[in-house]
Amino acid sequence: MEYKNILFEIKNNIGYVTINRPDKLNALNDETLDDLKKCFSGIKEDYGVSVVIVAGAGEKAFVAGADISEIHKLNVIAAKHFAEKGQSIFNLIEKLGKPVIAAVNGYALGGGCELALACHIRLASENAKFGQPEVNLGITPGYGGTQRLTRLINSGRSAELILTGDVIDANEALRIGLVNKVYPASELIVKATELAEKISSKAQIAVSMALRSIVSCDELSETEGQNLESGMFALCCGTEDFKEGTNAFLEKRKPHFTNQ
Ligand code: COA
Repeated sequence: MEYKNILFEIKNNIGYVTINRPDKLNALNDETLDDLKKCFSGIKEDYGVSVVIVAGAGEKAFVAGADISEIHKLNVIAAKHFAEKGQSIFNLIEKLGKPVIAAVNGYALGGGCELALACHIRLASENAKFGQPEVNLGITPGYGGTQRLTRLINSGRSAELILTGDVIDANEALRIGLVNKVYPASELIVKATELAEKISSKAQIAVSMALRSIVSCDELSETEGQNLESGMFALCCGTEDFKEGTNAFLEKRKPHFTNQ
């Protein structure tokens, strides 16, 4: 499929999505959002992709935000549509049914931080920088940042970041739980690929069911969440991979999963 502002390739069942506007620090303009929607809609239906890695082209930025030259022209009605469009694409990523790893290789500001937040696991390079600087532009985050950041790192820390517009470095992001791990920039994609391969080697139906329970956590009560979990557990017990995984353990050998 042809994209204007992203690169997409599949290697060993891992999908690599690269936002590719390095001269604009990979800022998300409308065309790029359309590309992301098309790409992730395809990935959702593609059994050849088990894990996705998202990164930014170039050495400076993951994504430096929504495109400010487009935001600048918005009126109130257009702004509501603008925010809802970004939210729906980031919801598509969060609810993809497959793990998505953000490999944050530089600035992740505004919509870039929100894109990383919509991914399930965040790894960062040592030069990564995170922030929600929208208040500097007279706006609030609009692509889910007030919700996802607050749930991820707690309301006090989220309020401090969003209300000051401060930009933090990778080590601070690690300290407050915004990212899982920090690596030298030259190792980031290698480490993200290792993680993706590890997840990809597991029973994919179980991975997908577990992810569905994890992602639903914020939307469900404890009772509803546990009900969903027991349902996912039960469904897994009807798969070939369940038989293979448990047989392999009992026979003291490595499992060979077929994703059936
Ligand atoms: N929207 C549109 N264009 C952007 C952009 C964004 N969010 N972020 C960077 N760019 C563009 C710049 O306008 C510049 O384009 P130009 O060369 O045509 O002038 C190019 O990307 C390089 O950015 P520049 O500002 O020159 O790089 P820098 O290293 O001096 O600064 C940042 C890097 C990230 C600190 C700075 O670009 C910045 O503050 N960007 C906006 C971040 C932001 O507020 N994001 C939230 C948006 S809601």
